[in-house]
Amino acid sequence: FQPKLLAGQQVLVTAGPTYEAIDPVRGITNLSSGKMGFAIARAAREAGAQVTLVAGPVSLPTPRGVTRVNVKSAQDMLEAVMQHAPIATIFVATAAVADWRPASAADHKIKKDGTGQCPQMGFVENPDILAGVARSPRGQSGALFCVGFAAESHDLLAHAQAKRARKGVPLLVGNIGPATFGQDDNALLLVDEHGTREMPRAPKLALARQLIAEVARRTRAAA
Ligand code: C5P
Repeated sequence: FQPKLLAGQQVLVTAGPTYEAIDPVRGITNLSSGKMGFAIARAAREAGAQVTLVAGPVSLPTPRGVTRVNVKSAQDMLEAVMQHAPIATIFVATAAVADWRPASAADHKIKKDGTGQCPQMGFVENPDILAGVARSPRGQSGALFCVGFAAESHDLLAHAQAKRARKGVPLLVGNIGPATFGQDDNALLLVDEHGTREMPRAPKLALARQLIAEVARRTRAAA
């Protein structure tokens, strides 16, 4: 009998885009499909973990056995993550969180006033969910193993290394271009304290299973 790789672990995953309201009928979002995060949640569950998936607005089916929490904005996502992080042992942040949100959302639909004048909008920065969790006492002590993702248009390695340090995560995973948004396959670059490892292009579920095996190895080594 071989115990499952993540038996006894509590895995928390963020996935998909966030939606930042401008008024009750409009908002700002991005093209994240959520597929990579959903695949990771599924792979973690298959590996025997209890899995909570905090999902931005996507229309993907919930992987079997996974507890899903639907959110819209980055603020909602932060709240859901903070609620579940205290019992999590592994946090994988794949969500494409909006960097900014409108400074204030209008209560009513903004109407054209007929003069041709456009509304002016100010923005405020959203909290960095991953950096906050990684820098919490449990993140820093390694009791909560944090994994970040990076999608870059150029200089992936340099950006991924910088992002790993900036966010304070032991493992940062870069999406190797071209743009992976919405596609069913991907190629990944894993960056940790020892260096890098490439996972060649494959379906997202296959990559998710490989990544979960890597995370299991690291969390076992740390235990
Ligand atoms: O800074 P950037 O958005 O490129 O970082 C990407 C990584 O950080 C991803 O793992 C993403 O889920 C996470 N992130 C976050 N909260 C933010 C911005 C990014 O958790 N506000």
